[in-house]
Amino acid sequence: MENPFRYGEVATGVYFTDRSVELAELQADIRTGQNVVIISPRRFGKTSLVFQALELLKQEHVLVAYIDLFRTPTKDRFADHLADTIYSGLVAPFERVWQRAVDVFQKLPIRPKVTVNPDGTPSFEFAAGERSRDIERTIEGLLALPGQIASERKRRVALVLDEFQEVVAIDPHLPALMRAVFQFQGEVAHVFLGSKRHLMQRVFTDENEPMYKLAKPFPLREISAEDFAPFIRERFAATGQRIAEEAVRRVLATTDGHPHDTQELCYFTWSLAQAEGAEATPEVVDRALARVIEAEDARYTTVWEGLSPHQRLVLAALVVGAEAVYSEAYRRRHRLGAASAVQRSLERLVERELVEFSPRTGYRVPDVFLRAWIARVTAPNGGTGSRT
Ligand SMILES: Nc1ncnc2c1ncn2[C@@H]1O[C@H](COP(=O)(O)OP(=O)(O)O)[C@@H](O)[C@H]1O
Ligand SMILES: [Mg+2]
Repeated sequence: MENPFRYGEVATGVYFTDRSVELAELQADIRTGQNVVIISPRRFGKTSLVFQALELLKQEHVLVAYIDLFRTPTKDRFADHLADTIYSGLVAPFERVWQRAVDVFQKLPIRPKVTVNPDGTPSFEFAAGERSRDIERTIEGLLALPGQIASERKRRVALVLDEFQEVVAIDPHLPALMRAVFQFQGEVAHVFLGSKRHLMQRVFTDENEPMYKLAKPFPLREISAEDFAPFIRERFAATGQRIAEEAVRRVLATTDGHPHDTQELCYFTWSLAQAEGAEATPEVVDRALARVIEAEDARYTTVWEGLSPHQRLVLAALVVGAEAVYSEAYRRRHRLGAASAVQRSLERLVERELVEFSPRTGYRVPDVFLRAWIARVTAPNGGTGSRT
Protein backbone atom coordinates (compact mmCIF):
# COMPACT_ATOMS: atom_id res chain seq x y z
CA MET A 1 0.00 0.00 0.00
CA GLU A 2 1.21 3.49 -0.83
CA ASN A 3 2.45 5.77 1.92
CA PRO A 4 -0.11 8.57 2.40
CA PHE A 5 2.52 11.20 3.26
CA ARG A 6 4.82 13.13 0.95
CA TYR A 7 7.83 15.29 1.58
CA GLY A 8 10.33 17.00 -0.69
CA GLU A 9 8.09 17.98 -3.57
CA VAL A 10 5.39 20.59 -3.76
CA ALA A 11 2.42 19.40 -1.70
CA THR A 12 -0.79 19.36 -3.74
CA GLY A 13 -4.21 17.74 -3.62
CA VAL A 14 -4.73 15.35 -0.72
CA TYR A 15 -1.15 15.93 0.44
CA PHE A 16 -1.85 19.61 1.09
CA THR A 17 -3.17 20.64 4.49
CA ASP A 18 -5.64 23.37 3.82
CA ARG A 19 -4.06 26.52 5.19
CA SER A 20 -7.40 28.20 4.81
CA VAL A 21 -6.54 31.54 6.40
CA GLU A 22 -3.30 32.05 4.48
CA LEU A 23 -4.84 30.74 1.28
CA ALA A 24 -7.78 33.13 1.46
CA GLU A 25 -5.53 36.08 2.21
CA LEU A 26 -3.14 35.29 -0.61
CA GLN A 27 -5.95 34.83 -3.12
CA ALA A 28 -7.54 38.11 -2.07
CA ASP A 29 -4.20 39.91 -2.48
CA ILE A 30 -3.63 38.52 -5.94
CA ARG A 31 -7.19 39.31 -7.02
CA THR A 32 -6.67 42.98 -6.17
CA GLY A 33 -3.25 43.14 -7.82
CA GLN A 34 -1.47 43.51 -4.48
CA ASN A 35 2.21 42.57 -4.57
CA VAL A 36 3.27 40.24 -1.76
CA VAL A 37 6.53 38.87 -0.44
CA ILE A 38 6.39 35.53 1.36
CA ILE A 39 9.42 34.87 3.53
CA SER A 40 10.07 31.72 5.57
CA PRO A 41 12.81 29.19 6.11
CA ARG A 42 13.19 26.54 3.41
CA ARG A 43 10.62 23.71 3.34
CA PHE A 44 7.94 25.71 5.10
CA GLY A 45 5.43 25.36 2.32
CA LYS A 46 5.81 28.62 0.39
CA THR A 47 5.73 27.01 -3.04
CA SER A 48 2.95 24.61 -2.04
CA LEU A 49 0.78 27.45 -0.74
CA VAL A 50 1.28 29.56 -3.84
CA PHE A 51 0.62 26.64 -6.21
CA GLN A 52 -2.63 25.95 -4.40
CA ALA A 53 -3.65 29.60 -4.63
CA LEU A 54 -2.76 29.72 -8.33
CA GLU A 55 -4.80 26.60 -9.08
CA LEU A 56 -7.87 28.19 -7.50
CA LEU A 57 -7.28 31.55 -9.15
CA LYS A 58 -6.97 29.98 -12.59
CA GLN A 59 -10.54 28.81 -12.17
CA GLU A 60 -11.46 32.49 -11.75
CA HIS A 61 -9.64 33.22 -15.04
CA VAL A 62 -6.65 34.88 -13.45
CA LEU A 63 -3.62 34.39 -15.71
CA VAL A 64 -0.58 33.05 -13.91
CA ALA A 65 3.13 32.86 -14.68
CA TYR A 66 5.64 31.20 -12.36
CA ILE A 67 9.43 31.25 -12.44
CA ASP A 68 11.92 29.58 -10.10
CA LEU A 69 15.13 31.58 -9.82
CA PHE A 70 17.06 28.52 -8.67
CA ARG A 71 16.72 27.25 -12.20
CA THR A 72 17.95 30.46 -13.81
CA PRO A 73 21.56 31.04 -12.71
CA THR A 74 22.36 33.49 -15.53
CA LYS A 75 20.57 36.37 -17.23
CA ASP A 76 20.22 34.36 -20.44
CA ARG A 77 18.57 31.48 -18.60
CA PHE A 78 16.37 33.91 -16.72
CA ALA A 79 15.20 35.37 -20.03
CA ASP A 80 14.56 31.88 -21.46
CA HIS A 81 12.47 30.73 -18.53
CA LEU A 82 10.62 34.00 -18.32
CA ALA A 83 9.65 33.69 -21.98
CA ASP A 84 8.57 30.07 -21.45
CA THR A 85 6.34 30.87 -18.51
CA ILE A 86 4.89 34.01 -20.08
CA TYR A 87 4.10 31.98 -23.15
CA SER A 88 2.47 29.06 -21.38
CA GLY A 89 0.68 31.04 -18.67
CA LEU A 90 -0.33 34.27 -20.36
CA VAL A 91 -0.28 33.75 -24.12
CA ALA A 92 -1.18 30.13 -24.88
CA PRO A 93 -4.60 30.36 -23.15
CA PHE A 94 -5.67 32.74 -25.97
CA GLU A 95 -3.62 31.68 -28.96
CA ARG A 96 -3.89 28.04 -29.87
CA VAL A 97 -1.61 28.46 -32.87
CA TRP A 98 1.80 28.89 -31.38
CA GLN A 99 3.42 30.41 -34.47
CA ARG A 100 1.09 33.33 -34.01
CA ALA A 101 1.53 33.29 -30.27
CA VAL A 102 5.29 33.74 -30.45
CA ASP A 103 4.75 37.04 -32.26
CA VAL A 104 4.60 38.66 -28.82
CA PHE A 105 8.35 38.09 -28.56
CA GLN A 106 9.25 39.51 -31.95
CA LYS A 107 9.59 43.10 -30.80
CA LEU A 108 12.25 42.28 -28.21
CA PRO A 109 15.83 43.49 -28.84
CA ILE A 110 16.95 39.86 -29.05
CA ARG A 111 14.64 37.48 -30.80
CA PRO A 112 14.48 34.07 -29.21
CA LYS A 113 15.23 30.83 -30.97
CA VAL A 114 12.11 28.69 -30.79
CA THR A 115 12.26 24.92 -30.44
CA VAL A 116 9.23 22.72 -30.40
CA ASN A 117 9.04 20.15 -27.60
CA PRO A 118 7.82 16.59 -28.23
CA ASP A 119 4.43 17.58 -26.76
CA GLY A 120 4.07 20.34 -29.34
CA THR A 121 4.69 23.29 -27.00
CA PRO A 122 7.45 25.72 -27.91
CA SER A 123 10.36 26.72 -25.72
CA PHE A 124 12.51 29.80 -26.10
CA GLU A 125 16.20 30.49 -26.04
CA PHE A 126 17.98 33.83 -26.11
CA ALA A 127 21.44 33.27 -27.52
CA ALA A 128 24.25 33.43 -25.01
CA GLY A 129 27.04 35.83 -25.91
CA GLU A 130 24.73 38.64 -26.94
CA ARG A 131 25.75 42.00 -25.60
CA SER A 132 24.85 42.39 -21.95
CA ARG A 133 22.96 45.61 -22.69
CA ASP A 134 20.74 43.79 -25.17
CA ILE A 135 20.00 40.99 -22.73
CA GLU A 136 19.00 43.56 -20.13
CA ARG A 137 16.69 45.35 -22.54
CA THR A 138 15.23 42.00 -23.55
CA ILE A 139 14.55 41.12 -19.93
CA GLU A 140 12.97 44.53 -19.45
CA GLY A 141 10.74 43.87 -22.44
CA LEU A 142 9.78 40.46 -21.10
CA LEU A 143 9.00 41.84 -17.66
CA ALA A 144 6.72 44.43 -19.25
CA LEU A 145 4.69 41.80 -21.11
CA PRO A 146 2.49 40.66 -18.19
CA GLY A 147 1.26 44.23 -17.76
CA GLN A 148 0.54 44.63 -21.47
CA ILE A 149 -1.26 41.30 -21.66
CA ALA A 150 -3.30 42.11 -18.56
CA SER A 151 -4.64 45.31 -20.07
CA GLU A 152 -5.15 43.89 -23.57
CA ARG A 153 -7.01 40.85 -22.29
CA LYS A 154 -8.65 42.66 -19.39
CA ARG A 155 -7.51 39.95 -17.04
CA ARG A 156 -5.80 39.96 -13.70
CA VAL A 157 -2.29 38.52 -13.92
CA ALA A 158 -0.11 36.95 -11.22
CA LEU A 159 3.64 36.76 -11.76
CA VAL A 160 5.36 34.55 -9.18
CA LEU A 161 9.12 34.75 -8.62
CA ASP A 162 10.18 31.81 -6.46
CA GLU A 163 13.56 31.58 -4.65
CA PHE A 164 13.82 35.32 -5.11
CA GLN A 165 16.84 35.55 -2.77
CA GLU A 166 18.84 34.35 -5.81
CA VAL A 167 18.07 37.52 -7.78
CA VAL A 168 21.26 39.33 -6.85
CA ALA A 169 23.37 36.34 -7.85
CA ILE A 170 21.82 36.43 -11.32
CA ASP A 171 22.51 40.13 -11.70
CA PRO A 172 22.82 42.82 -9.01
CA HIS A 173 21.00 45.28 -11.30
CA LEU A 174 17.95 43.07 -11.73
CA PRO A 175 16.01 44.38 -8.68
CA ALA A 176 16.26 47.97 -9.92
CA LEU A 177 15.18 46.89 -13.37
CA MET A 178 12.24 45.00 -11.89
CA ARG A 179 11.12 47.89 -9.78
CA ALA A 180 11.19 50.24 -12.75
CA VAL A 181 8.83 47.94 -14.64
CA PHE A 182 6.71 46.47 -11.83
CA GLN A 183 5.69 49.73 -10.19
CA PHE A 184 3.60 50.64 -13.22
CA GLN A 185 1.87 47.26 -13.49
CA GLY A 186 -1.26 47.82 -11.44
CA GLU A 187 -3.03 44.86 -13.06
CA VAL A 188 -0.29 42.44 -12.13
CA ALA A 189 0.16 40.93 -8.68
CA HIS A 190 3.86 40.20 -8.21
CA VAL A 191 4.47 37.44 -5.71
CA PHE A 192 8.01 37.07 -4.38
CA LEU A 193 8.94 33.93 -2.43
CA GLY A 194 12.19 33.48 -0.62
CA SER A 195 14.20 32.07 2.24
CA LYS A 196 17.31 33.77 3.67
CA ARG A 197 15.18 36.14 5.66
CA HIS A 198 18.01 38.62 6.27
CA LEU A 199 18.51 39.08 2.52
CA MET A 200 14.85 39.09 1.58
CA GLN A 201 13.89 41.49 4.32
CA ARG A 202 16.67 43.89 3.46
CA VAL A 203 15.70 43.96 -0.18
CA PHE A 204 12.09 44.87 0.61
CA THR A 205 12.34 46.95 3.80
CA ASP A 206 15.58 48.93 3.55
CA GLU A 207 14.79 52.31 2.05
CA ASN A 208 18.04 52.28 0.08
CA GLU A 209 17.05 49.09 -1.69
CA PRO A 210 15.22 49.19 -5.03
CA MET A 211 12.38 46.92 -3.96
CA TYR A 212 11.62 49.04 -0.89
CA LYS A 213 7.90 48.92 -0.04
CA LEU A 214 7.09 47.31 -3.38
CA ALA A 215 5.33 44.35 -1.77
CA LYS A 216 3.29 43.50 1.29
CA PRO A 217 5.14 41.21 3.72
CA PHE A 218 3.36 37.88 4.14
CA PRO A 219 5.02 35.85 6.88
CA LEU A 220 4.45 32.13 6.68
CA ARG A 221 4.61 30.17 9.90
CA GLU A 222 4.35 26.55 10.91
CA ILE A 223 1.03 24.81 10.31
CA SER A 224 -1.08 24.97 13.46
CA ALA A 225 -1.93 21.80 15.39
CA GLU A 226 -5.65 22.45 14.75
CA ASP A 227 -4.99 22.14 11.02
CA PHE A 228 -2.29 19.49 11.09
CA ALA A 229 -3.85 17.00 13.53
CA PRO A 230 -7.02 16.34 11.45
CA PHE A 231 -4.82 16.07 8.34
CA ILE A 232 -2.64 13.38 9.96
CA ARG A 233 -5.68 11.45 11.22
CA GLU A 234 -7.34 11.62 7.82
CA ARG A 235 -4.19 10.46 5.95
CA PHE A 236 -3.84 7.44 8.26
CA ALA A 237 -7.55 6.68 7.99
CA ALA A 238 -7.41 6.83 4.18
CA THR A 239 -5.14 3.77 4.25
CA GLY A 240 -6.93 1.99 7.07
CA GLN A 241 -3.90 2.36 9.32
CA ARG A 242 -4.76 3.12 12.96
CA ILE A 243 -3.00 5.87 14.91
CA ALA A 244 -3.49 6.68 18.58
CA GLU A 245 -4.48 10.21 19.50
CA GLU A 246 -1.39 10.54 21.73
CA ALA A 247 0.75 9.55 18.76
CA VAL A 248 -0.66 12.42 16.69
CA ARG A 249 0.16 14.73 19.57
CA ARG A 250 3.66 13.26 19.86
CA VAL A 251 4.34 13.94 16.18
CA LEU A 252 3.28 17.56 16.47
CA ALA A 253 5.10 18.08 19.77
CA THR A 254 8.25 16.82 18.04
CA THR A 255 7.94 18.91 14.89
CA ASP A 256 6.07 22.00 16.14
CA GLY A 257 4.05 21.84 12.94
CA HIS A 258 7.05 22.30 10.64
CA PRO A 259 5.39 21.31 7.33
CA HIS A 260 8.15 19.28 5.71
CA ASP A 261 9.41 17.65 8.88
CA THR A 262 5.92 16.70 10.02
CA GLN A 263 5.24 14.95 6.72
CA GLU A 264 8.60 13.19 6.92
CA LEU A 265 8.04 11.98 10.49
CA CYS A 266 4.54 10.84 9.58
CA TYR A 267 5.92 9.02 6.55
CA PHE A 268 8.30 6.99 8.71
CA THR A 269 5.71 6.46 11.46
CA TRP A 270 3.15 5.16 8.99
CA SER A 271 5.61 2.79 7.38
CA LEU A 272 6.81 1.35 10.72
CA ALA A 273 3.26 0.81 11.95
CA GLN A 274 2.28 -0.68 8.63
CA ALA A 275 5.21 -3.11 8.62
CA GLU A 276 4.41 -4.20 12.15
CA GLY A 277 0.69 -4.47 11.48
CA ALA A 278 0.03 -2.48 14.64
CA GLU A 279 -1.50 0.80 15.74
CA ALA A 280 0.85 3.80 15.58
CA THR A 281 1.59 4.73 19.19
CA PRO A 282 3.88 7.41 20.67
CA GLU A 283 6.51 4.72 21.03
CA VAL A 284 6.33 4.04 17.28
CA VAL A 285 6.69 7.79 16.63
CA ASP A 286 9.85 7.86 18.74
CA ARG A 287 11.33 4.97 16.80
CA ALA A 288 10.33 6.66 13.55
CA LEU A 289 12.17 9.79 14.71
CA ALA A 290 15.31 7.74 15.32
CA ARG A 291 15.00 6.34 11.80
CA VAL A 292 14.63 9.78 10.26
CA ILE A 293 17.72 11.02 12.07
CA GLU A 294 19.61 7.94 10.95
CA ALA A 295 18.51 8.56 7.38
CA GLU A 296 19.70 12.17 7.57
CA ASP A 297 22.91 11.33 9.45
CA ALA A 298 25.27 11.48 6.46
CA ARG A 299 23.92 14.86 5.36
CA TYR A 300 24.09 16.34 8.85
CA THR A 301 27.60 14.99 9.38
CA THR A 302 28.76 16.77 6.23
CA VAL A 303 27.15 19.99 7.41
CA TRP A 304 28.71 19.64 10.85
CA GLU A 305 32.16 18.97 9.43
CA GLY A 306 31.92 22.14 7.39
CA LEU A 307 31.52 24.29 10.51
CA SER A 308 34.20 25.87 12.65
CA PRO A 309 34.44 24.62 16.25
CA HIS A 310 32.95 27.89 17.49
CA GLN A 311 30.04 27.71 15.06
CA ARG A 312 29.35 24.19 16.34
CA LEU A 313 29.36 25.46 19.92
CA VAL A 314 26.90 28.21 19.06
CA LEU A 315 24.64 25.81 17.18
CA ALA A 316 24.66 23.35 20.07
CA ALA A 317 23.84 26.19 22.49
CA LEU A 318 20.87 27.30 20.38
CA VAL A 319 19.43 23.81 20.45
CA VAL A 320 19.46 23.87 24.25
CA GLY A 321 17.93 27.34 24.48
CA ALA A 322 18.18 30.65 22.66
CA GLU A 323 17.14 33.37 25.08
CA ALA A 324 19.46 36.44 25.23
CA VAL A 325 22.26 34.83 23.22
CA TYR A 326 24.61 37.81 23.66
CA SER A 327 24.19 38.06 27.43
CA GLU A 328 27.14 37.31 29.62
CA ALA A 329 25.24 34.60 31.47
CA TYR A 330 24.40 32.79 28.23
CA ARG A 331 27.91 33.07 26.85
CA ARG A 332 29.40 31.82 30.10
CA ARG A 333 26.96 28.94 30.44
CA HIS A 334 27.79 27.70 26.94
CA ARG A 335 31.47 28.82 26.96
CA LEU A 336 31.03 30.94 23.88
CA GLY A 337 33.60 33.66 24.61
CA ALA A 338 33.25 37.22 23.37
CA ALA A 339 29.94 38.60 22.13
CA SER A 340 31.62 39.66 18.89
CA ALA A 341 32.65 36.05 18.23
CA VAL A 342 29.08 34.88 18.87
CA GLN A 343 27.82 37.49 16.47
CA ARG A 344 30.25 36.41 13.75
CA SER A 345 29.33 32.75 14.11
CA LEU A 346 25.61 33.53 14.11
CA GLU A 347 26.00 35.55 10.93
CA ARG A 348 27.68 32.63 9.15
CA LEU A 349 25.06 30.18 10.42
CA VAL A 350 22.23 32.43 9.28
CA GLU A 351 23.85 32.80 5.86
CA ARG A 352 24.00 29.03 5.54
CA GLU A 353 20.33 28.81 6.55
CA LEU A 354 21.12 26.56 9.49
CA VAL A 355 19.90 29.25 11.85
CA GLU A 356 16.99 31.55 11.33
CA PHE A 357 16.41 34.89 13.00
CA SER A 358 13.10 36.63 13.36
CA PRO A 359 12.08 39.28 15.85
CA ARG A 360 9.20 37.05 16.93
CA THR A 361 11.22 33.94 17.78
CA GLY A 362 14.80 35.20 18.07
CA TYR A 363 17.55 32.85 16.87
CA ARG A 364 16.60 29.24 16.26
CA VAL A 365 17.41 26.13 14.27
CA PRO A 366 14.34 25.61 12.06
CA ASP A 367 15.20 22.04 11.00
CA VAL A 368 13.56 19.79 13.61
CA PHE A 369 15.70 16.75 12.87
CA LEU A 370 18.95 18.68 12.80
CA ARG A 371 18.02 19.89 16.28
CA ALA A 372 17.54 16.33 17.45
CA TRP A 373 20.72 15.21 15.70
CA ILE A 374 22.79 17.95 17.32
CA ALA A 375 21.32 17.17 20.73
CA ARG A 376 22.42 13.61 20.20
CA VAL A 377 26.00 14.20 19.03
CA THR A 378 26.65 16.81 21.70
CA ALA A 379 25.15 14.73 24.51
CA PRO A 380 27.57 13.99 27.37
CA ASN A 381 27.80 10.31 26.41
CA GLY A 382 28.88 11.28 22.89
CA GLY A 383 25.46 10.44 21.58
CA THR A 384 26.27 6.96 20.38
CA GLY A 385 23.46 4.49 20.75
CA SER A 386 21.37 4.41 23.91
CA ARG A 387 19.42 7.69 23.61
CA THR A 388 16.89 6.21 21.24
N1 LIG B 1 0.06 22.90 3.22
C1 LIG B 1 0.82 21.81 3.39
N2 LIG B 1 0.29 20.66 3.87
C2 LIG B 1 1.04 19.56 4.06
N3 LIG B 1 2.33 19.50 3.83
C3 LIG B 1 2.95 20.61 3.38
C4 LIG B 1 2.22 21.80 3.13
N4 LIG B 1 3.08 22.72 2.68
C5 LIG B 1 4.29 22.12 2.65
N5 LIG B 1 4.22 20.85 3.07
C6 LIG B 1 5.34 19.88 3.20
O1 LIG B 1 6.55 20.62 3.17
C7 LIG B 1 7.36 20.24 2.06
C8 LIG B 1 8.04 21.48 1.49
O2 LIG B 1 7.08 22.34 0.93
P1 LIG B 1 7.47 23.48 -0.10
O3 LIG B 1 6.21 24.10 -0.57
O4 LIG B 1 8.41 22.94 -1.13
O5 LIG B 1 8.28 24.50 0.85
P2 LIG B 1 9.14 25.79 0.48
O6 LIG B 1 8.70 26.27 -0.85
O7 LIG B 1 8.85 26.77 1.59
O8 LIG B 1 10.58 25.35 0.51
C9 LIG B 1 6.42 19.53 1.11
O9 LIG B 1 7.10 18.54 0.38
C10 LIG B 1 5.40 18.91 2.05
O10 LIG B 1 5.89 17.68 2.55
MG1 LIG C 1 9.84 26.37 -2.60
